[in-house]
Amino acid sequence: MKTMRLDKYISLAGVASRTETSKAVRSGEVLVNGIPARKADMQVDPDTVAVIYRGQPVTYRQFTYILLHKPDGVVSATEDGREQTVLDLLPEELRRIRPALFPCGRLDKHTTGLMLLTNNGDLSHRLLSPTRHVDKTYAFSVKFPLSDEDVAALESGVDIGGYITAPCKVELDPRDPAERGAGGRITLHEGKYHQIKLMMEARHNQITRLARITFGPIALDPTLDPGEWRMLTEGEVAELETAGR
Ligand code: URA
Repeated sequence: MKTMRLDKYISLAGVASRTETSKAVRSGEVLVNGIPARKADMQVDPDTVAVIYRGQPVTYRQFTYILLHKPDGVVSATEDGREQTVLDLLPEELRRIRPALFPCGRLDKHTTGLMLLTNNGDLSHRLLSPTRHVDKTYAFSVKFPLSDEDVAALESGVDIGGYITAPCKVELDPRDPAERGAGGRITLHEGKYHQIKLMMEARHNQITRLARITFGPIALDPTLDPGEWRMLTEGEVAELETAGR
């Protein structure tokens, strides 16, 4: 494999940013093949190098996986001439990696919450394929409270313009009885364009808030504010691999 800068190697492994790496190198806390690195921009061969960052071995990953808390008003695209995209929320060094990162599935501009970004096209494809039944859960609010009949219809499948949705799960928030049905969670394993909005419209209702809270085994990280992100851990990537199998 081609060589790359040490600070890039460490940041792509999700261990530390380039700035943090520079500081750690200056204080002698980054070992390259057992020897303290002298410069953060030294070239390393990802296939053969052994890096220890502040006592922690760094494992290089072929692909990059990011968990982003998507804020309202940002589009799920890699580029857009007018609107801010989810990629614009990442630092330059991540926007430049090749193969390039892309969102694993789309959320509407006004949907917030859990968004995965990766450059592993094969895994992304498997996670989004309806045949693999990877569940995605969304918290929602609606304009008019849902009745038991609405819930039953949504769960068994509604017509969203020539397509009957697959069975799904709807749980209403246990609130005061007068408000019951005004919000809850819906879990789908498919992702047609505007699916939940259209499902509520099929019940003569309207989504007023939509936030994705889980994607397969991954849950939205409560420590991330809207617009913040972190790398997935090794364990989370392994769980996603299992879910996409
Ligand atoms: N369904 C929608 O209607 N919008 C989303 O963003 C996701 C699912």
